[in-house]
Amino acid sequence: MPWRGEIERSFQQREQANRWRARKRVQSPMGRTLTIDGQPLLNFCSNDYLALANHPALKQASAEAIETFGTGSGASHLVCGHQELHHQLEQDLAAMLGAQQAIVFSTGYMANLAVPQTFLARNDLLLEDKLNHASLLDAGSISPVKMKRYPHLDINSVEKSLAGSDANRKMVLTDGTFSMDGDVAPVQQLAGLCRQQEAMLVVDDAHGFGVLGTSGAGLLEQEGVPVGGNVLMVGTLGKAAGSFGAFVAGDAIYIQSLIQFARTYIYTTALPPAVAAASITAVNLIQSEPSRRQRLKSLINRFRKEAAEAGLPLMPSPTAIQPIVLGSEKSALAADALLRENGILGIAIRPPTVPIGSARIRLTFRADHTDEDIDKLLSVLTDDAFRQLIAAEDAS
Ligand SMILES: Cc1ncc(COP(=O)(O)O)c(C=O)c1O
Repeated sequence: MPWRGEIERSFQQREQANRWRARKRVQSPMGRTLTIDGQPLLNFCSNDYLALANHPALKQASAEAIETFGTGSGASHLVCGHQELHHQLEQDLAAMLGAQQAIVFSTGYMANLAVPQTFLARNDLLLEDKLNHASLLDAGSISPVKMKRYPHLDINSVEKSLAGSDANRKMVLTDGTFSMDGDVAPVQQLAGLCRQQEAMLVVDDAHGFGVLGTSGAGLLEQEGVPVGGNVLMVGTLGKAAGSFGAFVAGDAIYIQSLIQFARTYIYTTALPPAVAAASITAVNLIQSEPSRRQRLKSLINRFRKEAAEAGLPLMPSPTAIQPIVLGSEKSALAADALLRENGILGIAIRPPTVPIGSARIRLTFRADHTDEDIDKLLSVLTDDAFRQLIAAEDAS
């Protein structure tokens, strides 16, 4: 095969750039520690922010649903795979978010692909933040519309582009909580601008759902922006909710459009009912146990305060995602290895996942981290070996 040489060259290039990816085999359930190669490591890299992925109530709901409904849904939603449990999950989500309706997708990636494809045609306008998650950028690339990317959080640029466009339909698509930076979109201003310009604002709050807002409904709740009218919210259930899948919420007419036209909804098997059962329990726990969110917030605040006092280069993130940018791939890998030698899993994130020159350790916090876990993390990050990695980058 003539391909082999090309593929091997692509491997060499990736390795030479220190961008080779290797999967770690985890030998324990998702939790505060993860066992890899027989070694338990403190987990500072999952998206299981509320520590729900191995929660007894979710497991029980899931096990009971398997007993009652079996393992597979057996068909797509529009054929005969749409179980009562999917319906209940959609209703619970809509009630939590104060939205007219919600639709559950199999993954957040698929939910995001669906939105521009369903609502926009060739001459419409799609604006996306430069640092949007890959699934949102891919959604723009595969839709017929021309996507324009604006500088990160740059509301003036959005205003100019919206005002200067005579497109029939205009959409602004943004992460709520940015997945690799942890900072948040200016959703109040974006919602106001979009209202003025009769544009749709779509906020993918995959990392804010469960974590932000009084009831855990996410950034829009925290910022007092209702889900409805010209605002659609995407959220995922595989992160803080500790389950799997995703949803889009908003006015019924838009959700009905997704049911009718979204290819990634229509042409795929519905989620297993047991996954929907776990999600229903998670949505309930997120609302009924605010202490998880409060504990997470206090861990984040403590980490940020002490890390800033120690001179660590933090990013402006109020959320559970606290990256430390090293710069080069090599330094990010060295930091990853150093953490691991000290019993901590904090993963190097490198281009193309993040922009070139901003390779980082993406630290994430969980509600079940102990104070001693934070002590340990801070002691490694403020140790000479870690400081030298940061200093070497500053000097280069
Ligand atoms: C911002 C954002 N949106 C969407 C997704 C995709 O969600 P899912 O894992 O459910 O496909 C992710 C990460 O996985 C994400 O970080």
